[in-house]
Amino acid sequence: MKKPKVIVTRRWPLEVEARLADAFDATFNRDDIPLEQDELSAALAGADAVLPTVSDRLGARLFEGGIKAGILGNFGVGYNHIDIAAAAAAGIVVTNTPGVLTDATADLALTLLLMCARRAGEGERELRSGKWSGWRPTHLCGTHVTGKTIGIVGMGRIGQAVARRCHFGFGMDVVFFDQFAVTGLDFRARQLGTVDDVLAVADFVSLHCPGGGENVHLINAERLARMRPEAFLINTARGDVVDEVALIEALDARQLAGAGLDVFKFEPQVPMALRERDDVVILPHLGSATNETRIAMGMKVIENITTFFEGRQPPDRVA
Ligand code: DGY
Repeated sequence: MKKPKVIVTRRWPLEVEARLADAFDATFNRDDIPLEQDELSAALAGADAVLPTVSDRLGARLFEGGIKAGILGNFGVGYNHIDIAAAAAAGIVVTNTPGVLTDATADLALTLLLMCARRAGEGERELRSGKWSGWRPTHLCGTHVTGKTIGIVGMGRIGQAVARRCHFGFGMDVVFFDQFAVTGLDFRARQLGTVDDVLAVADFVSLHCPGGGENVHLINAERLARMRPEAFLINTARGDVVDEVALIEALDARQLAGAGLDVFKFEPQVPMALRERDDVVILPHLGSATNETRIAMGMKVIENITTFFEGRQPPDRVA
């Protein structure tokens, strides 16, 4: 039987590419240069499956006509880079990779939280530049983490994993907002009525809601003004959840103490006004970037497209 034709838009871990090459008629992006819109369009027109990532923009226009692909097997849990309504209208199934990146992303949120609180970025820059003059009682003092309050916005898998780490690892109080009632947690946590309620009491606010739609600029000037001046904002969710211009203004006005950001609205562009600040820690979208996790994400995509081509329901179908 002819193997389904599959186009992979970026380099994937070698183990996963090998598995894809074995099971499918797979085309890889050996140069790892993001595909242009016309190349994505050609992929949709020529392949049975296209396997994109967060660095691909798949807006409605790409689904307007001449499509052969039956499935988009997204490499990643977030899919706000895909217009899933347009994909569904064009008869294309869309899948994602939930679950396997929960721990890696939660670990990275804690990395940012600790780096912000303990001024680790500043310290490393100082040492590397040869400016460290030695230990002294007042040097680079940060904020205590143990016993503080973590505020989670979006108490799904990753939000819960962050909260659990904060509760068990750092004895923190956990408050959270979620649009659904969350029950059955294995640690103490208080669900509050609004995002604003969380912002008003948390020492650290960690964002774990999806991007796009009504969450675009969820954290805007008004909400930033509700944060405590000692508080830090952590974002490992999606860049568009935070109004970056408003964040820079709020930091200038000292409405919050700092921010730890792994995601940005116009990646890989990051505003110079953020890059120059010492009160922000910025990382290049590393949330799921462990070898184990990236392999597991790739294998999950393979599971999804395999079930699709076998005529069964893919386990992680989102459209
Ligand atoms: C995801 O899975 O959505 C991540 O942001 C990509 O690592």
